[in-house]
Amino acid sequence: MSWFPGLVLGIESSCDETAAALIDRGHVISNVVASQVEMHAQWGGVVPEAAARAHVESILPVVESALEGRRPDAIAVTNRPGLLGSLSIGVTAAKALALAWGVPMLGVHHIEGHLLSVLAGVDDPLKVFPFLGLVVSGGHSELVLCPAPGRYALVAETLDDAAGEAFDKGARLLGLGYPGGKAIQDAARCGTSGRYSLPRSLARDNGHFSFSGLKTAMLRLVEREGAAIDVASAALALQEAIVDSLVPKALNAVESHGVERLAVVGGVAANSALRNRLASECSRRGVSLMVPPIELCTDNAAMIALAGSLRLARGERDGFELDVFARAPLPGQEG
Ligand code: KG4
Ligand code: ZN
Repeated sequence: MSWFPGLVLGIESSCDETAAALIDRGHVISNVVASQVEMHAQWGGVVPEAAARAHVESILPVVESALEGRRPDAIAVTNRPGLLGSLSIGVTAAKALALAWGVPMLGVHHIEGHLLSVLAGVDDPLKVFPFLGLVVSGGHSELVLCPAPGRYALVAETLDDAAGEAFDKGARLLGLGYPGGKAIQDAARCGTSGRYSLPRSLARDNGHFSFSGLKTAMLRLVEREGAAIDVASAALALQEAIVDSLVPKALNAVESHGVERLAVVGGVAANSALRNRLASECSRRGVSLMVPPIELCTDNAAMIALAGSLRLARGERDGFELDVFARAPLPGQEG
């Protein structure tokens, strides 16, 4: 089991980034992302119709700039889960290009892409398995056991909001804008630890995550403090609460599943406080931590090409009837 022996073009348009990337046997040759973040910021969140329109405008220039005149040997495209209108743009482009070039095409699950983003630059992907993946993004907070390529087991998920949503909603309450994760991280730098305290989702919740209590506590804090609120310290309290809610559960799952590697992936994996806490906890417990570079944490197409490459190498292909799905379980789930 190894990489697909040729250039794989990845296409990703599941939400608000139009992305294309080219990989060669696990090595990222190009990784282009056209973000719609500024457009959606004016509405405080992603507006699906506007996202689809913007994908239509960006998809071909983004693909062209990823290819720089090269012709790929196969195409991998996100076809699930995500916004249907957005997904359709990437999938339609992939079908048209596969037909024009006469190359194979494959639909990829967005979360499988995030999980396998840690394989970038790895010559022998098998060496990375088994590992536990902490997937933390705007739409997901999950712990996924990855015993082998294409095999996944959901170990824990969020009972309500995702970690990225907790950052985004907290940032909105503090007037820090959208998207909130990076804004909270930047504001938190000047905060005083311990000035405010927010609840951790330790809950008697059998290892699952929960962030809705934190959101409510943040709302109360903002209402209570009013204009006198120390925004930096409130941002720091929020970030610390989210990190404290994620890290122990991830490390406990690593131990209880007897794996030696932990991967942290998804947009929230770009958070430096989370990275630092995980790094120190992992080194204390002798766990090897895998963190993708920042540009592979937030949505991108290199991760889709990486996940697609392993499947294409196994001979998997999709036909032109390939469909898009708003929701979809991870492939190859084991109970
Ligand atoms: O993976 P992603 O780009 O899109 C989804 O699949 O959802 O994740 C986006 C999420 C947003 O909620 C954003 O606020 C968060 O990732 N994020 C961060 C940081 N950068 C992005 N959260 C915390 N710290 C960051 N530095
Ligand atoms: Zn994502």
